Amino acid sequence: MLKGKTAVITGGVRGIGKAIAKAFCQNGADVILCYRSNDEEAEKTAAELKKLGTEVTIFKGDVADPATAKEIAKQVKEYSGKVDILVNNAGITNDKLMMRMSPEDFTKVIDANLNGTFYMMKEISALMVKQRSGVIINMASVSGLKGNPAQINYSASKAGIVGMTLSAAKELGRRGIRVNAIAPGFIETDMTAILTEDQKEAAAKNITLGRLGQPEDIANTALFLASDMGAYITGQVISVDGGIIM
Ligand code: NAI
Repeated sequence: MLKGKTAVITGGVRGIGKAIAKAFCQNGADVILCYRSNDEEAEKTAAELKKLGTEVTIFKGDVADPATAKEIAKQVKEYSGKVDILVNNAGITNDKLMMRMSPEDFTKVIDANLNGTFYMMKEISALMVKQRSGVIINMASVSGLKGNPAQINYSASKAGIVGMTLSAAKELGRRGIRVNAIAPGFIETDMTAILTEDQKEAAAKNITLGRLGQPEDIANTALFLASDMGAYITGQVISVDGGIIM
């Protein structure tokens, strides 16, 4: 489905990002995976994905720094001269009730999740505009659609991503670029591993399908949107949440 395509995936070395990278490689894409700090984890993921037979490049950088997006765009130009897919998946949480949340707690999450997505879209879409083709997928969250206690910072960042996705879709549609967001529900990754079994069981009770999601549930949707199967879809937020929001 993605043979000959090049994809940039932020936060692509673990969790949901890694599952997306794997699905893309299995379907013939070369991938460039951006990660923030864990070299060992990144190298391990790259070695694992390379076995699938496509090019896998890892890039260390903090998406909250606008220089990272510029550098990735530069490297993309040097390596392959083109980029077909951008997945803005990197994200963090820093959950606290509002009365305990400092301005720094708030800003840090906005910087990584929202500003990082903006910097990446700006630099990579500039390359896509020249090609007159491309697909951008931004990772939103159920939290940005319906809110969550102790996640004022995170919900704001994810709701912002939704707004940005819609505006970018309108700006870029005539240039052959589709922009969509995925809003995952409760997915079992390192991000949610801090929750106790009791908390996970309680969460599952609110899910129509009665189970927590797996990274592959999100990867399948990303693959669909990135491929020509999603050729007539833009400016949409696809909830992949087992029916938490209905
Ligand atoms: P994770 O914590 O397992 O992985 C996140 C990845 O993003 C890591 O590889 C990390 O290095 C990278 N990252 C974080 N901040 C970065 C930065 N400033 N610069 C570069 N890389 C950075 O998280 P998970 O669960 O795989 O989440 C992936 C995305 O899905 C995030 O945007 C998250 O908000 C979103 N999401 C996750 C849900 C879940 O239940 N796990 C639910 C809804 C949305």
